[in-house]
Amino acid sequence: MLHATTSALKYCLALGSCAVAALCTLYVTRPTAQSNASPIYGVTIPAGYRDWKLIAVNQLKTDKVDQLRAQLGNEIAIKAFKERKIPFPDGTIIAALHWNRVPSEDNNKVLVDAFPGAQSFVVESAVNVQFMVKDSKKYAATGGWGFGDFKDGRPGDEALHKACFGCHVPAKAHDYVFAHYAPQP
Ligand code: HEC
Repeated sequence: MLHATTSALKYCLALGSCAVAALCTLYVTRPTAQSNASPIYGVTIPAGYRDWKLIAVNQLKTDKVDQLRAQLGNEIAIKAFKERKIPFPDGTIIAALHWNRVPSEDNNKVLVDAFPGAQSFVVESAVNVQFMVKDSKKYAATGGWGFGDFKDGRPGDEALHKACFGCHVPAKAHDYVFAHYAPQP
C-alpha cells in the first residue's frame, strides 16, 4: 500500500540504505512540490489572498459562462492603484476571483415592490482564481509579470499558461493590467 506519501517513505526507509532513502524522499516529495506551482512561471497561491482589498469587480458573459469577478490586491498593489503608479512595483500581486453568477429569487422577492422587475444576481460556486505577480527581473520576458491560474487549489496546465501574457499585451499602457481602481462610492 503505497498510496500515501508517508507510507511510501516508510517503505523506502525500510530498505535500510540512506542513499536509497534520500533518493526515495526526492522521488516522493518532488511531484507534490511541483504540482502547487503554475507551469512556466512557478507562481503559487499567496497566503491570505481571500482577505485582500478590493480593486474592482466585473462580469464575464459568453454563450457558455456567466461569471462575476473580483480583482483583489495585496498592500503593494492597492497602494500602487491608489497612487496610479505605473509600472507596478516589484512585489505587487493581483488576484482575480471568479464565480458563477446565478439569479437570487430570495433577493428578488424582497426587492420587487420597491424595484419592480428587479433581478438580483449573486455568486454561486467558485470557478477559479488567477494571479499576476510582479517581479521585473524574474519575469523580464513577460513584462515583469508571472501568471498563475488555479482551480480547487491546483494549477492549470502549460497550454493554459502559455496564453496568459500574450492576451494581456493590449493592456501594455497600463502595465499589462486591465483592471482600474473602482471609484469610491
Ligand atoms: C483571452 C485573453 C486572456 C487570456 C488568455 C488571459 N487573460 Fe487575464 N484577463 C484578460 C482580460 C480582458 C482581463 C480583464 C477582464 C476580466 O477580468 O475578465 C483579464 C484579467 C486578469 C486579471 C486581473 C488583473 C487585470 O489584468 O485586470 C488577472 C490576475 C489575470 N487576468 C490573470 C490571467 C492569467 C493567470 C492567465 C493565464 C492562465 C490569463 N489571465 C489569461 C484577458 C486574458
